Amino acid sequence: MAWIKVDAAAAIAEGEYQLVITEDDIELLVANVDGEFHAVENLCSHDGGSLEGGCIEDGEIVCPRHGARFCLSTGEVTAPPAYEDIDVYPVRIIEGVVEVSDEPEV
Ligand code: FES
Repeated sequence: MAWIKVDAAAAIAEGEYQLVITEDDIELLVANVDGEFHAVENLCSHDGGSLEGGCIEDGEIVCPRHGARFCLSTGEVTAPPAYEDIDVYPVRIIEGVVEVSDEPEV
């Protein structure tokens, strides 16, 4: 397991996220939700679409394709047409820099 540097915490505003690609080519979205950072896989479980471009509402990311919603802290699906949860990835802040794990939480 390795930690990937994302950006300065101050550079990711509340309600925004950044795309990170791991060495294994897994795309992650690292999001600032009310000052707390969370990361999920950038892969909607409905039709395999990218979640990038979706907005954050109430701590959930809304898929820009058909509107499924996922909790950013747990990966839990909260609205159809998706029915499967998505992976979440550990995030930490070291000296003001956001880092994300390249392996999902189990
Ligand atoms: S691909 Fe995300 S809701 Fe359809």
